[in-house]
Amino acid sequence: MKPRLLQHGPLMASLEAALAAHFDVQPLSQDADPRAVLAARGGEFTALATSARFGADRALIEALPSLRVIASFGVGVEKIDLAAARERGVAVSNTPDVLTGCVADLAFGLLIDVSRRLSAADRFVRRGDWPKGPFPLATRVWGKRLGIVGLGRIGSAIARRAGGFDMPVRYHNRRPVENCPHEFEASLPALAAWADFLVIACAGGAATRHLVSRQVIDALGPGGFLVNVSRGSVVDEMALVDALRARRIAGAALDVFEDEPNVPPELFALDEVVLLPHVASATHETRQAMADSVLANLRSFFDSGRLLTPVA
Ligand code: 8YV
Repeated sequence: MKPRLLQHGPLMASLEAALAAHFDVQPLSQDADPRAVLAARGGEFTALATSARFGADRALIEALPSLRVIASFGVGVEKIDLAAARERGVAVSNTPDVLTGCVADLAFGLLIDVSRRLSAADRFVRRGDWPKGPFPLATRVWGKRLGIVGLGRIGSAIARRAGGFDMPVRYHNRRPVENCPHEFEASLPALAAWADFLVIACAGGAATRHLVSRQVIDALGPGGFLVNVSRGSVVDEMALVDALRARRIAGAALDVFEDEPNVPPELFALDEVVLLPHVASATHETRQAMADSVLANLRSFFDSGRLLTPVA
């Protein structure tokens, strides 16, 4: 008998097919009343497959009394109630490592785009403005100071890429990273004041909500650029919009927003802002590796009781 697995939110087609080969999958349909499904059948499921986007809140976990494991597609776990899972002895996995390189690549792509104004220059050519005169000068990347907020796996991969651009790196973190070649900065406003580019790569959730405050944005100053590949919640988005409109910072490149897929419309008119629809991990290779990781975690758990990439 295949274990019963509840699927929360859509997953990649290849992952859905792979899950169906090994599990008896029930999608928690968004159109039907999920509470009715859970009230009638909640006790059947021993596994839950979800994603960083959909997570698993306390109500869902409590509606699944036989649940033993949650496997999430994505590295961010702020939408999974880890305390509720722990209380019930439910194991939780995510998909770290496999997406690190692509997220770091995209952070660097955004950094170069916002400073050298690639997207703005592309718009300039498409608008037919080139024959009217040259595109304005942009800001150099190499050798500039890079401040990283959150020196975990992704932040460290961004720091490694900075080496290729001869950029000095400092970082802010909950605590200094051992044997790290880069200077730790305990004060985030001080890091922002030092940096030409402030790149956010920390975890989301309550602990980092609005960490990048109006004060931090103002410390970055009129020559500074903000890049965010973590979670929109880390930045006080309204403070950022105000600062960009008043040109109190030079620009921002954002892959993530506070209320996705809603982007503050005030940003649409600003040429010094790069806006992406949360695509940092969205390559064929990485998304397939994330799908493989979800399946491998679930299979390992049911074969041996052990997850391959448990959430600490
Ligand atoms: C997810 C992400 O792929 O990994 C994360 O935490 O934000 C993305 O890589 C996306 O949110 C799908 O759930």
